[in-house]
Amino acid sequence: MTSTASSAIRAAARVGRFSYAIRQVVAEAKKVEATGRTVRYLNIGDPNAFGFVTPPHLVEAVVKAMRDGHNGYTASAGIASAREAAAADFVARGVPVTADRVLITSGTSEGIELALTAIVDEGDDVLVPSPTYPLYTAVLAKIGANPVYYRTDPSQGWLPDLDHMADAVTPRTRALVLIDPNNPTGAVYPEAVRRQLVAFAEARGLVLLADEVYGDLGFDGAVPALAAMAPDAAIISYSSLSKAYLAPGWRAGWMAVGATPRLDEALAAIKKLADGRLCSPGPMQYAVTAALTGDRSHQVAFRAALRERAALTTARFNAMPGMNVVAPKAAFYAMPQVALPEGRTDQDFVLGLLRAKGILCVHGSGFGLPAEGGYFRVVFLASPAELASIYDDVADYAQEFTQA
Ligand SMILES: Cc1ncc(COP(=O)(O)O)c(C=O)c1O
Repeated sequence: MTSTASSAIRAAARVGRFSYAIRQVVAEAKKVEATGRTVRYLNIGDPNAFGFVTPPHLVEAVVKAMRDGHNGYTASAGIASAREAAAADFVARGVPVTADRVLITSGTSEGIELALTAIVDEGDDVLVPSPTYPLYTAVLAKIGANPVYYRTDPSQGWLPDLDHMADAVTPRTRALVLIDPNNPTGAVYPEAVRRQLVAFAEARGLVLLADEVYGDLGFDGAVPALAAMAPDAAIISYSSLSKAYLAPGWRAGWMAVGATPRLDEALAAIKKLADGRLCSPGPMQYAVTAALTGDRSHQVAFRAALRERAALTTARFNAMPGMNVVAPKAAFYAMPQVALPEGRTDQDFVLGLLRAKGILCVHGSGFGLPAEGGYFRVVFLASPAELASIYDDVADYAQEFTQA
């Protein structure tokens, strides 16, 4: 068939495989808002949307950079001072990495995409937790590789199930994704489990992708970096200004490629791909230096606020009939489970809650869990008073739903 000026431009097939539920549910919320109802959004982990404020010295660093004329492209791997600050921060956490193995990226997200694109071929497999932060499966869909889920077990505090992981490995498995502290479950892995995970990856020649974007948000303080316990392992570590430095819109993050020569080819490939996207936003890179060398006292207050909200969330969900939740240990997410009536799915619950009460959560199947599990994710960044009122409404609706 010949194309004509009036024929529709079709989307690429890969888009059909691509899914990012956290933002896709918003379309449903907009329909509810169009009916005049207020929607309370518990779907996106953006602390600034709930009144948490970026530390002023970071704002100053960006403004100063702009005023000083740092508005051009930077080197693809980032400005030297930010790379050095990130390397020094890793060294202070026990990870012996030099600035030449650090890249400044447009958030953790871009680091993840660069590493997966650099390391994983079309048709390869990557071990991804279930439930997962959905960017991993979304990026793998774009590059034509396969996410293979390993179970994390709610009855064990959402810790990875190593037997299941071992069964999931294939000859084409290239990498193991660890999200610790975890989104969407709030789990923090104990040292013994982390050692087993590193040994597992090393024994099979897998690259470990250590997503530590919530590393400073453990309720008991910063969580140790994975690479600190195994400096010679093939680990790529990620973090950013988005969560622990309260600047998600700046798209500023960093990644460190472990010091082992086994990662040299991967590092060169990541740098080559980074050249093609020129650089991450220049002025924001100056805030990376300010964040990692300056005052971090805002984190003490932020962690205390999160701990209080987590306790409230856990107590309230566990008190609802037909509902249970594992207490989160870090970050601002919880993954409650509702007892689904026969034939209903997690999405039925989430959409029902949205339409009945104007509360938007994300269904567990949006994170790779089975739809019949009845899990859904709650972002608990709102004030305790607001959360208490939201949870009253969730309890009302859950009673109606589970008895229907
Ligand atoms: C586990 C995890 N990794 C990465 C990201 C993306 O973070 P960034 O804003 O640094 O790209 C998020 C954001 O919610 C996340 O939860």
